Amino acid sequence: MAQVRFAAVRKSFGDVHVVRGLDVEVADGEFLVVVGPSGCGKSTVLRLLAGLETPSEGRIEIGDRVVNEVPPRDRDVAMVFQSYALYPHLTVRENLEFGLRLARTPGDVIAARVDEAAEMLGLTPLLERLPKALSGGQRQRVAMGRAIVRRPSVFLFDEPLSNLDAALRAQMRVELKRLHRELATTMVYVTHDQVEAMTMADRILLLNEGIAQQIGTPDDLYFRPANRFVAAFLGSPRMNFVRAAREGDAFVAPGVRVATEALPLNAAGQAAGEVVLGVRPHDLRVRSGARGGGAPEGALVEASADAPPVTVRATLELLEPMGWEVNLHVRVGEEPFIVRAEVRDVGSWSPGQELAFTAAPADVRVFGVDDGACLLEYTG
Ligand SMILES: Nc1ncnc2c1ncn2[C@@H]1O[C@H](COP(=O)(O)OP(=O)(O)OP(=O)(O)O)[C@@H](O)[C@H]1O
Ligand SMILES: [Mg+2]
Repeated sequence: MAQVRFAAVRKSFGDVHVVRGLDVEVADGEFLVVVGPSGCGKSTVLRLLAGLETPSEGRIEIGDRVVNEVPPRDRDVAMVFQSYALYPHLTVRENLEFGLRLARTPGDVIAARVDEAAEMLGLTPLLERLPKALSGGQRQRVAMGRAIVRRPSVFLFDEPLSNLDAALRAQMRVELKRLHRELATTMVYVTHDQVEAMTMADRILLLNEGIAQQIGTPDDLYFRPANRFVAAFLGSPRMNFVRAAREGDAFVAPGVRVATEALPLNAAGQAAGEVVLGVRPHDLRVRSGARGGGAPEGALVEASADAPPVTVRATLELLEPMGWEVNLHVRVGEEPFIVRAEVRDVGSWSPGQELAFTAAPADVRVFGVDDGACLLEYTG
């Protein structure tokens, strides 16, 4: 068991700056997911922690030790890679035993740990099989088992599920989470998959171009994004954005009007003349009167006394049925938006139709035009 700490860590390969000043602490027993687009430095962060790379600057701690100079085998970490290469000529049991034998662990200890790990992972009936006689998910569990039998203080996972099909990935997500609860060991898990990040993490570290964009709980990042990048990265379909200018007591863009007094703007937001407004597809609601199809009442929404604080006027371009929900691809001014609506709200709408939407002011996000920083004061 151990906590992990990166303090002002930088990593460059020549003049390629891959990790550009990372500060993060992972509590003992915590499940931290490092997520971000391809090439943002996720694997490098993990390799730094494993000791496969040395930091160019800064300090990495595991437990109470600074490990910058500690070789991988003495760090007490176990890493599971995306390519979980098992020894093809060894049985599952022999694969699980292999690392412990190398470390000259006594035979009875090996047997006990292998049995325990196999039990935990549902591998007991498969122990005498060769890897070629296993499914992808079963092989993945053997790779996990090899790490578990070592009883490391920290588990490191680098995209361990990306070779599996969607159904198996979903199943393994749940199994991994249960495993984490049983072992209560610190885990650092790298993925580019926002669903894995949202569903498994105690906290998420969202990286972009080697810089932490935000570190927090899944709810923090989803509901209280620190900037536009975070808001766009998490959530599917992604958040809609539109650039708007202040006109009197509202932010206004073609088809859009948001009353500023309804928004908890921070000081920079109060001062901003131009902003980027963001709203998620399922937070846009069809204006009352539109339900059941036909032309929505007041399709052309203008600032009027009885208009809600957030109004969006759009032209329907395409309907994408998703079962009981529909993705409405609409055009707001020049901007493409997606609205998640329920089938019963859509009625007989067809492309070309003018639609009116609203959203709760609490669901509107406001970002700086240049730096994308959040311009809201989040409360609660
Ligand atoms: N040894 C190296 N020499 C030079 N550049 C490197 C080296 N290792 C990694 N990089 C670069 O560092 C950047 C980050 O790589 P890294 O593997 O950490 O990304 P990643 O976030 O894990 O991406 P992916 O999701 O594609 O696995 C990339 O641009 C990569 O080309
Ligand atoms: Mg990687």
